[in-house]
Amino acid sequence: MWIFGIVLISLSGADGLTSFPDHLVVAAKGDPVTLTCRGHSDGNVTWKFAEDGKVENVEFGENVQQKGGKLVFGEAGDPMVGEYSCWSGVQNLSSVYLLLDAQEEEEDEEGEDLDSLISCRANSYDCNFNCNWTGSDYTAVRLGLGDECSTGEKRCEWVNGREAGPDGRFQFEMSHSVSPYAEESTMLEVTAEAISDSYYLKTTKRFYLRDIVQPDSPEIVRCQEVGQDLSVSIDPPASWSTPHSFFSLQHEIEYVYKDNGMHETSLSTLIPKRISQLRVRSRDPLVLSAWSQWSPWKNVTY
Ligand SMILES: *[C@@H]1O[C@H](CO)[C@@H](O)[C@H](O)[C@H]1NC(C)=O
Ligand SMILES: *[C@@H]1O[C@H](CO)[C@@H](O)[C@H](O)[C@H]1NC(C)=O
Ligand SMILES: *[C@@H]1O[C@H](CO)[C@@H](O)[C@H](O)[C@H]1NC(C)=O
Repeated sequence: MWIFGIVLISLSGADGLTSFPDHLVVAAKGDPVTLTCRGHSDGNVTWKFAEDGKVENVEFGENVQQKGGKLVFGEAGDPMVGEYSCWSGVQNLSSVYLLLDAQEEEEDEEGEDLDSLISCRANSYDCNFNCNWTGSDYTAVRLGLGDECSTGEKRCEWVNGREAGPDGRFQFEMSHSVSPYAEESTMLEVTAEAISDSYYLKTTKRFYLRDIVQPDSPEIVRCQEVGQDLSVSIDPPASWSTPHSFFSLQHEIEYVYKDNGMHETSLSTLIPKRISQLRVRSRDPLVLSAWSQWSPWKNVTY
């Protein structure tokens, strides 16, 4: 009996929206809002509200009234958020989710810049890039590309986030159609929608693909003695765009002197011979992209 009780509690506690409902109405706190019973012009419907797993008739009052087939709230607020369905007798006609707009609350929070909720990175000029969402307290997040997603005027192809950890992180794999061969003149426009039990947040971020390029780590292939120097051969990361003659990479080598343990860096692949270890990183020298992560340290033996 005990165990059974605990399971029940944890199930109803996990009530947060983990996917986007088909129909969503977002209201600013304190504003009036009207829900319509889709596909039903006749006013003879019953509105029900789902609460704690039970579906009950909506209780009317000063702030909640039915006008024809519509459900009208004088002021949207926390107790009203959730799923409403309209019924004709025992037939469920349609349902809609009412959430509050988180925009104002988020912007009030000091230092919380909506832009910083999304961070994106491309490891090449090919057609994919990755984004992370780091806003906490949201249970489902999706991203869309282009002005059909930011304006909502046309149908947006949403990409649902993969939850990455318990702290409200979501990861996304996005694709774009920016040509890698032409001067990039239009910005990518990424729109995020996030929902929780009670709130909805929408924010858009714009950037050039070249500004989010960060190559993966390159690889040290071998070191060869050349007189007093060491010549280092470096392979670009496998994920980098080809041909490499067109998509150039600049490499930086960090090495440690054998005798005194001093560190030095070099943009040349010809480095002093008396070193104990080295590592390397890359960037696109044309756009001065972010540097890749360093490759692992490699011990020098020859
Ligand atoms: C409203 O719907 C109910 C149940 O579907 C039905 O019994 C009733 O006759 C309807 N009333 C009107 C005015 O259409
Ligand atoms: C009513 O139907 C919609 C589909 O139109 C469904 O999503 C919703 O969960 C249903 N609501 C109830 C309370 O059965
Ligand atoms: C997203 O987060 C993961 C894990 O923290 C990290 O490895 C990755 O580099 C991040 N990606 C972006 C685009 O910030």
